Amino acid sequence: MKHILVGLDGSERQAQVLDTAVRLAEALGGQLTLLRAVSLPTELPARAYTVPPEQLGSLLLADAQRDLDERARRVPGPLLRETQTVLGTPWHAIVDAATRLHADLIVGGSHGYGGLDRLLGTTAAKVVDHAKCSVLVARAAA
Ligand SMILES: Nc1ncnc2c1ncn2[C@@H]1O[C@H](COP(=O)(O)OP(=O)(O)O)[C@@H](O)[C@H]1O
Ligand SMILES: [Mg+2]
Repeated sequence: MKHILVGLDGSERQAQVLDTAVRLAEALGGQLTLLRAVSLPTELPARAYTVPPEQLGSLLLADAQRDLDERARRVPGPLLRETQTVLGTPWHAIVDAATRLHADLIVGGSHGYGGLDRLLGTTAAKVVDHAKCSVLVARAAA
């Protein structure tokens, strides 16, 4: 369990997901790669209309990368391998990155932006279904 891929979606819950991953990396002597997938939202931020359509992906990626880098500052240096922001459907991007980066474990939350706590969010469920490595699903604190 040396290389842990952490899915962070930018929601309020991601702090807890990252905490869980940091504690695991400490305990296992592993390192974290933080991954944020950006998919084109159905409702676009106002700024989206100020750039040509072909630049929209880069604009959203840059915003996401900034947020991810801010998160990464809270990870103790030796535990951080890298941060990656990719365009794509989140579950697919996470499963893909885990294979590409030879991750030993994926850590994600049971939910992100959604509500119900007893069921898994769509991304979480798909990742558990399709990942080739083990997946740890962090439940929200009661
Ligand atoms: N865009 C994303 N990039 C990276 N990880 C994500 C993304 N979306 C979801 N995840 C991961 O999947 C977990 C569960 O989220 P999700 O299944 O989308 O729940 P919800 O339906 O509540 O948003 C998140 O806590 C996060 O770890
Ligand atoms: Mg979600």
